[in-house]
Amino acid sequence: MALVRPAVTAAPLSLSLPEPQREFAFFDADFRALAKIAYEHAGITLPEAKKNLVYGRLSRRLRTLGMSTFEDYRKHLAENSDEELELFINALSTNHTKFFREQHHFEHFTSHVVAPFVATHQTGGRLRVWSAGCSSGEEPHTIALILNAEIKNVANRDVRILATDIDTDVLRRASLGVFSTVSVDAVPTKYRSALSKVEGDDKVAIDRSVCSLITFGRLNLMNDWPVRGPFDAIFCRNVMIYFDPPTKARLVDRFTDLIRVGGWLYIGHSESLIGSHPRLKLSGRTIYRRTA
Ligand SMILES: C[S@@+](CC[C@H](N)C(=O)[O-])C[C@H]1O[C@@H](n2cnc3c(N)ncnc32)[C@H](O)[C@@H]1O
Repeated sequence: MALVRPAVTAAPLSLSLPEPQREFAFFDADFRALAKIAYEHAGITLPEAKKNLVYGRLSRRLRTLGMSTFEDYRKHLAENSDEELELFINALSTNHTKFFREQHHFEHFTSHVVAPFVATHQTGGRLRVWSAGCSSGEEPHTIALILNAEIKNVANRDVRILATDIDTDVLRRASLGVFSTVSVDAVPTKYRSALSKVEGDDKVAIDRSVCSLITFGRLNLMNDWPVRGPFDAIFCRNVMIYFDPPTKARLVDRFTDLIRVGGWLYIGHSESLIGSHPRLKLSGRTIYRRTA
């Protein structure tokens, strides 16, 4: 019996894996150049592991612009910097958010910020809250729903929420005060009186009087802040995860400057390791109090 050996075709030994089949040519140099722009402009760090994500999110821009390579897109970005930079950052930013996200923050905010305000001021008083990196608005609207329910005649008091983000797409949505019915499922019953169903649509609108507690604005946290404090509380949650440690440390310092002594900084649940800070005391899970 003849032994038949399977034919072995020698493949050239290659140490680098082939790039997946892609609609647009996307080289390491493209990724590195775009990651550098995102970092320099918005502080967003994009490690190698985010390469596919960057490709996916920017491919839509290439399709819209009718381009076939990322090299062309880089040239376009360089030539139309301000306009395209805004769209570039909008495409790259991660905007996941929800109502009453990390609910313990809102319980703490109600008992440590709102309740003392109500106890001290039957009328008048001044209360300022900043939602920095507010995305599509669920976070500042959560705060507004609480203030509306807890503070009598809130619309006529000096009570304001500042809500800012770098991404102009999400800001436009946020300022409408209209959300999907599913997204407001997380709103506790006691805060629902300010919600009404939008006729003929699977959407819910927040009362204008509640929305009007919020001022929305575009603000890149890497730049100057034309913002007047002091704030009783700042929420900057799930934003600094995209920044490197020196950027985070600088931001925490700048936030602290704007919080009144005794006021609060709320950060995202995965951001607890901001280290010890001379003017902040850890006072709960990812809740810091300005002490000096
Ligand atoms: C994941 S969302 C967090 C939303 C909300 N704070 C929350 O916790 O649900 C992060 C937001 O940070 C914004 N962001 C990223 N870099 C920024 C920067 N340099 N300046 C201002 N906002 C930025 C993004 O546009 C995005 O909307």
